Amino acid sequence: MAVRNFIDLDNIDAAILRTILDSAHAMKRAGKRVPDKLRPAGIEDDVLVMIFEKPSTRTRVSFDVAMRQLGGQTIALNHTDLQLGRGETIADTARVLSRYIDAIMIRANSHDTVMELTRYATVPVINGLTDRSHPCQVMADLMTFEEAKGPLKGRSVAWVGDGNNVAASWMHAAVKFDFELRIACPEELRPDPDVTAWVKREKGRVLITDSAEEAVDGVDCVVTDTWVSMGQSDAPRRKTLLAPYVVDDALMSKSASDAIFMHCLPAYRGHEVTEEVLEGPRSVVFDEAENRLHAQKAILAWCLGG
Ligand code: CP
Ligand code: NVA
Repeated sequence: MAVRNFIDLDNIDAAILRTILDSAHAMKRAGKRVPDKLRPAGIEDDVLVMIFEKPSTRTRVSFDVAMRQLGGQTIALNHTDLQLGRGETIADTARVLSRYIDAIMIRANSHDTVMELTRYATVPVINGLTDRSHPCQVMADLMTFEEAKGPLKGRSVAWVGDGNNVAASWMHAAVKFDFELRIACPEELRPDPDVTAWVKREKGRVLITDSAEEAVDGVDCVVTDTWVSMGQSDAPRRKTLLAPYVVDDALMSKSASDAIFMHCLPAYRGHEVTEEVLEGPRSVVFDEAENRLHAQKAILAWCLGG
């Protein structure tokens, strides 16, 4: 049977993604003690290795706790702990780790590193964020949307700010879960053209505009993210370009009266979002952070259940 990697939402069947999301909701209802019917058989013998080339709070802790609550074990490694940090290849690392452990979750600087890992690993590989995408985050975001507002199909979401890695996974999700996504960003920081081309081929409903007002008009949910992602060195230029894209009360007032606000965190108050919006009644950012745990359990259960 093919190894079940979780690399990007565009490459996973929509029906499978729906099953994983349903499982995430069930995991949340079940709480800490995951019932056998939601756990892959034999997970007590499984070990997840987590490799980090960049910092992480949510991804690291939620995957670790998720694997433990499923009954498995974890090893968390900074990439400099490994010989990888001294030049051992990804290909060799993948083949060695595959002899010891049962799944790899990696947060990598370059998406190519994750793809190389999938070529050589014989166990499932999970993308815990790269320069190109953040699919585990967006599964938790979709779950959070459904909790607050019901089914995604036919709904509308606005992404305001940098057309970054998280935006790319939202674009994949808009196609797979059939909702409208409107992205407001400056011309210079538009989303990955490959992802935009994929959406077009799939006939997805993704609008890209430079107007934040146009994007948020009447939407059910407004999402933003940091203006400077990990590994980016042009902070002053980004801050200048993104200054018109602050999510504040005035912008939120253009969305539907019951619209929610999401942010994957960490948030930089006074930059991409104001304190009032982040801490205000529409904000579901801490539910969203919690849902990383439940979504992670569902993703691990799918990967290890193959
Ligand atoms: N949202 C998210 O991925 O957070 P961390 O960088 O803390 O993992
Ligand atoms: N876009 C951000 C997300 C952090 C979770 C980054 O890549 O740094």
